[in-house]
Amino acid sequence: MTGKGIGYGKTILFGEHFVVYGLPGVASAISDYTIAEVEEGEEGLTLIDNRPSVEGYKDVKHEEITRQFDAIFNFMKIDIEKTPLKIKLSGNLVCASGIGASAALASSVARALNKHFDLNLNDEQINEIAFEGERGGSGTPSGIDNTCSTYGGMISFEKNLAGGPNKIQLLDIAKPFEIVMASTGITQETKVVVADVKAEKDKNPTKFDRIFSHYKNIFDEGVIAIKKGDIKKIGNLMDQNQDLLRQITVSCSEVEQIITIAKKNGALGAKLTGTGRGGLVICLSSDSKTTQHISDAIEKEGFKTAITMLGKK
Ligand code: MEV
Repeated sequence: MTGKGIGYGKTILFGEHFVVYGLPGVASAISDYTIAEVEEGEEGLTLIDNRPSVEGYKDVKHEEITRQFDAIFNFMKIDIEKTPLKIKLSGNLVCASGIGASAALASSVARALNKHFDLNLNDEQINEIAFEGERGGSGTPSGIDNTCSTYGGMISFEKNLAGGPNKIQLLDIAKPFEIVMASTGITQETKVVVADVKAEKDKNPTKFDRIFSHYKNIFDEGVIAIKKGDIKKIGNLMDQNQDLLRQITVSCSEVEQIITIAKKNGALGAKLTGTGRGGLVICLSSDSKTTQHISDAIEKEGFKTAITMLGKK
């Protein structure tokens, strides 16, 4: 039996890195997705990775992807020496740091294996497998990426540090909004950047206490603004969130360059999304014309962009 599964890309609006420490975050699935197709193979795992990606992504992520598959097979008790598999990855999600490509891989593969082996798993179980895939790939993920990839929509997410179920809420947003996603072209390993932030936190616990408490206000006000559709406020809070991300050392000059262009051209707010130190920047503006203008201005400086809607179910 051939099994096919889908996993959505995502963008984090508020709270990357902070969610690792149990603070709440907001993320939205985007309409681009990864498709996994599973069929019987000849020996072990034959992986055909046809996903579009930014240059260098698959080389940097090679080992992470191998670890993800190992973790998924392990958790699902699939012995690929006994049941060899051929897995093909495709879809329109252009893989880059920050877009949830590894989570989209994990949830699409979990869904495809579910179909292939006729396991009848529900979304919660798929999400659990996708989380294990993320854990294998990136060490200590919060779970926000795989949750978004599996369920879609815009969610608030809070990791349960005690190990119980995470707090996930589908946000009832006033209206979906358009953003520009701009790529720095730099791919980062989430595991490395998360570990660096932890080292920084261990060195400066008081600094991090202050940052976490400021971030908590951003989240609280952000959820209210999202529910009201107050775009101006959301933009301002994105800027504040970016400032905290700078302080925890996950910004970089390319991210800052894109933010400067976006702000000069009318963005209400702009921040990195996801792992940082490269990856993607998201930029919010009040109307479609300005969104296009921002996108054109960023492209003129040599960065690739895409315009996408957040919060569409
Ligand atoms: C990566 O997309 C988001 C991080 O917060 C890591 C995580 O939540 O697992 C950096």
